[in-house]
Amino acid sequence: MSAQADQPIGMFDSGFGGLTVARSVIDLLPSENLVYIGDTARYPYGPKPASDVRSFAIELANSLVNDFKVKMIVVACNTAAAVALQELQETLPVPVIGVVEPGARALVSVTKNKRVAVIGTAGTISSGAYDKAVARVSSDVVLTAAACPGFVEFVERDETTGVAVTELAEKLLAPVRNADVDALLLGCTHYPYLSAVISQVMGAGVKLVNGADETANSVRDALVKNNIARSVGASSKGTHEFYSSGDVQQFAELGRRFLGPELSATKYWQKK
Ligand code: DGL
Repeated sequence: MSAQADQPIGMFDSGFGGLTVARSVIDLLPSENLVYIGDTARYPYGPKPASDVRSFAIELANSLVNDFKVKMIVVACNTAAAVALQELQETLPVPVIGVVEPGARALVSVTKNKRVAVIGTAGTISSGAYDKAVARVSSDVVLTAAACPGFVEFVERDETTGVAVTELAEKLLAPVRNADVDALLLGCTHYPYLSAVISQVMGAGVKLVNGADETANSVRDALVKNNIARSVGASSKGTHEFYSSGDVQQFAELGRRFLGPELSATKYWQKK
């Protein structure tokens, strides 16, 4: 085992949503140590200009490297990965994994008719990151992309069913329904919580894809490739630390919904 193996994996998101990715990483790699920062003070990233999101992502990633000595960074936020992944990969001294490439791979792997769709925040969809990622995975798959402003807020309010969210889904998903797709990637950390509504609107013939598990697979592969995986053993359960730039109490409460009981306490992360 290399000297770096015991150092934590660093993960960040605009807030709570990336905890769905943390869940998948903890389940797949229980012996890894993890530090997660949710930038709730500046959340949401989805409607913000790409230049702002890029500078937040750089600040968070640098803090994980310099203050927490992480051995790898996971950008668990689709919006941040869509606009900042390449720059982070080019400038940081540790491997950097995003959620976009794994999501695109998972999406392409399930389509039969080669017509697929992705939904995400305005920032994610307007970046074109998923168009490029799907084209890299397969040149003969047609992608329809749609922004779904408002979905995140419904999840935050814990209003994941009902007339209002269903009406919004019917409106926002209309272009996707018209595109005759057989697979739809939930390209935002929050959307898995709206699976029931989205599935009802899209119909049984459309498979919903969540990239979190494929992202965890990419994390595992990168740890192995870089020889920095922590040895797996019954007695070597990893530690998990959670930080928030906003209200830590609220983060712990809402975060438990996304992650589960591992989220016992949250510490404060000071943004610049
Ligand atoms: N985490 C963001 C994403 O996956 C959604 C929430 C936000 O807009 O900040 O795109």
